Amino acid sequence: GDEVPNKKIKTSEPEVSESHTSLLYTPPSGRAPGPVTFQQPQQLVTFSYTPQHELEFTNSALRYYVDPPNGADLRYGYDRWIKRPEEKGRLDSLLRAVSRTRSKMKEGQPSAPDWLSTIGVVSWRGVMTKILTAPYEERDGWDLNVMLVNGTLYFEEHSSDARLVDRNNLPPNQRLQTYYGYSFESYCTSSERPTDGHKAGWGGDVDTNVQWCSVVKTKLADTRLVIGGEVDCVRDKHTGKTNTLVELKTSMNIRHAQDEARFEKKLLKFYFQSFLLGVPEIVVGFRSPQGRLGTIQSFKTVEIPRMVRGKPHAWDPTRCLDWANRFLTFLKDTITPCIDKEDSAATPVWRIKFNPGTGISASLLDKTGVDEVSAGEERVGFLPKWYLDELKD
Ligand code: A3P
Ligand code: MG
Ligand code: MG
Repeated sequence: GDEVPNKKIKTSEPEVSESHTSLLYTPPSGRAPGPVTFQQPQQLVTFSYTPQHELEFTNSALRYYVDPPNGADLRYGYDRWIKRPEEKGRLDSLLRAVSRTRSKMKEGQPSAPDWLSTIGVVSWRGVMTKILTAPYEERDGWDLNVMLVNGTLYFEEHSSDARLVDRNNLPPNQRLQTYYGYSFESYCTSSERPTDGHKAGWGGDVDTNVQWCSVVKTKLADTRLVIGGEVDCVRDKHTGKTNTLVELKTSMNIRHAQDEARFEKKLLKFYFQSFLLGVPEIVVGFRSPQGRLGTIQSFKTVEIPRMVRGKPHAWDPTRCLDWANRFLTFLKDTITPCIDKEDSAATPVWRIKFNPGTGISASLLDKTGVDEVSAGEERVGFLPKWYLDELKD
């Protein structure tokens, strides 16, 4: 196929009110790029959210994998679902984990340079998944807010208030379908480490306030990343590493070749979601449209790309890694340090827009845009004041 040039186009010099730079991406039809390295993620810290959605640096929300009962009804407990409202993708709890890690590093090696100064990007896993899978995204665009502080880029997904309202008012059927995913998690997990005689069954009513999260460090080409995300459960035991982590997914039963192709396309997202946190296993529960659980299949994350190679809807992770590397390089070239170092209130906020089929564009937010991002809270842009104050020492 024809190689589309992946050149950077600057249509104007960055200015405060109006600046547009854009990056095209190589569409999937192009020639495969060379390999880009991705370091095996290493777990830095884990934390839990309590039923009150309070963050604690414990494993109280950690759950253990158990085989679900045959033919389970995923509708079970729907009326009792304690549903956490959808909110802006704030970085606050990830920043608490970063702050904690930074202090620990400082305690361990007081004379060493600041650990955080080696980190290029801090982001939730969901945002990184969107960036990596963008070359194959045909439908959904996304917006990011990005800030550069002391050489580290911070990413926050930008969702408008209107979109949040929509996501909190799903049509009944969509809400039910969403519940099936959580219900599957309940059937597949236990808060106690299972013993030999463990009986398959309901693992407790769904409360989406409760989450267990893992924060890892890794490296894409020459950019060090700190990524945090929710992990569904562990197999057998938590080792303090990523080797026993398990991602749970539901998907519609596969009946025809067309269903299979759809599933293989979906595997791209399953793959990167798990890959980014170093999660080695994905357990998929296939279900009927009515929420009756069918076959359970476990996938080794690393083997997924090989499974889809040469298929009608094949995707190539190398292309995603190459694109993500070019994306990060573009941001590093475009988002340059704020000149007034003393005045952290002057740290600008960038808006990155991704449009399927086109690529991304970057622009600097004006005051109205920044005020919207801060939402009247104690923030500079989207970063909390307490965090920026800490970085000053
Ligand atoms: P499935 O995974 O079975 O789809 P996760 O898979 O990331 O652990 O998320 C658990 C469940 O949350 C999902 O179950 C799905 O029901 C819901 N969910 C997660 N991300 C979603 C999204 N972007 N849109 C709708 N539902 C989502
Ligand atoms: Mg999850
Ligand atoms: Mg899951």
